[in-house]
Amino acid sequence: MADLWGGRFTKQTDDAVFAFNESLSFDKRLYAVDIKGSICHATMLGKQGIISTDEMNSIVEGLKGILNDINEGKLEFDPKCEDIHSFVESNLIKRIGDAGKKLHTGRSRNDQVALDMKIYTREELDAAEELLTSLLKVLLKKMEENTETYMPAFTHLQKAQPTNLAHYIGAYVEMFLRDRDRIKDIKKRLNLCPLGAGALCGTTYPLDRDYVAGLLEFETATFNSMDSVSDRDYLIETLSAYSMIMMHLSRFSEELIIWNSNEYKFVEMDDAFSTGSSIMPQKKNPDIAELVRGKTGRVYGSLMSLLTTMKGLPLAYNKDMQEDKEVAFDAFDTVKDCLRLFAGMFDTITFNKEIMAKSAMKGFTNATDAADYLVKKGIPFRDAHSYIGRLVLLCIQKDCSIEDLSLNELKEICDKFDEEVYDAISLKTCVERRLTKGAPGAVKESIDRYKKLI
Ligand code: ARG
Repeated sequence: MADLWGGRFTKQTDDAVFAFNESLSFDKRLYAVDIKGSICHATMLGKQGIISTDEMNSIVEGLKGILNDINEGKLEFDPKCEDIHSFVESNLIKRIGDAGKKLHTGRSRNDQVALDMKIYTREELDAAEELLTSLLKVLLKKMEENTETYMPAFTHLQKAQPTNLAHYIGAYVEMFLRDRDRIKDIKKRLNLCPLGAGALCGTTYPLDRDYVAGLLEFETATFNSMDSVSDRDYLIETLSAYSMIMMHLSRFSEELIIWNSNEYKFVEMDDAFSTGSSIMPQKKNPDIAELVRGKTGRVYGSLMSLLTTMKGLPLAYNKDMQEDKEVAFDAFDTVKDCLRLFAGMFDTITFNKEIMAKSAMKGFTNATDAADYLVKKGIPFRDAHSYIGRLVLLCIQKDCSIEDLSLNELKEICDKFDEEVYDAISLKTCVERRLTKGAPGAVKESIDRYKKLI
């Protein structure tokens, strides 16, 4: 249906061309923000005397009726319309007649779609921010419950030093706090209203752009009309921030998958968040964590797709930009789902504290502390490192841990060892005495900070 622009044309659009060109099948989800933008545009046209008050009122009423009917399922999207903008406008004209034909005064679909996507993205950012906060609350709760849950921390996926689970989770709290800050930051930069830029060079009608910007809760109108209709930076920033969220969720998922493995058994996933195998009855698979990890690729894909779509575009609007929608919507949905499900999964996970502590005691995670012990006895660190290296070798030969060696055996390697060493290298001491800012012994201070921040 070429109602919007049929005047210049002598032929109907080819069916395949229409199908290729249309966007209603996916931009229909913009209906509420599109109508909101149109209501505010009409209100501004009325205030400026560009349309009469009666016309303004009947447009606003008509639009509210459309919104209501879509919400209640009484009005279906007509697949003969090219996009959501033409669907709403043609429906308005059907309802209120000639006044409806004035809605598009001083406006183009170019500034209209730029506006719709900005409002929609802003709402999505709000939703993601809230979901991040919910996830952060779950993580904080788990931190508080696990300040004395000892476990190994790794480098190169090899046991390195002992820590507590609260400290481990705290690392992810930091990441998700940064993610939330990034979202706040994007919203600030996004918050300029493109409406009134027209097709690309503004308009001769006396629009009040800042007034309509205010109605739509933007800080100000945009400052260059060509940039207004061709800017998708905020969307790329959003997809970039979302990629980062997914990267964090994916890393955390990977940890849980490893911890859930038969070899580690650090965690037990709740039955409600696991699935079984159709052939192997013993299986309980961490599918949610694996799917979150897997879906990370889709969100990265969205970012790459939009960056690539935008890279060769001259000013101002080009139809290529219609390709922003499906990828953005897919990323929006994916990130919301993943944040929600990950939080639910983490909330219901059981930690096998004994196995974690035992694992922390095996694998020489206290080797650094044993070296530090010798340093406190006056031995230079490099020499202490070498003594402990020899101790570790001895332990490997004897298949035991450092604390299993007798004082005589210790003294044979370095005579500075005495009885206190056993306390100095105990798991509890190794964790609790690491009191530097940000270290596991100081995790309660971190928790206090997060309570304020979250
Ligand atoms: N469906 C279009 C999009 O998503 C709306 C803008 C159309 N503008 C145009 N000049 N054809 O980008």
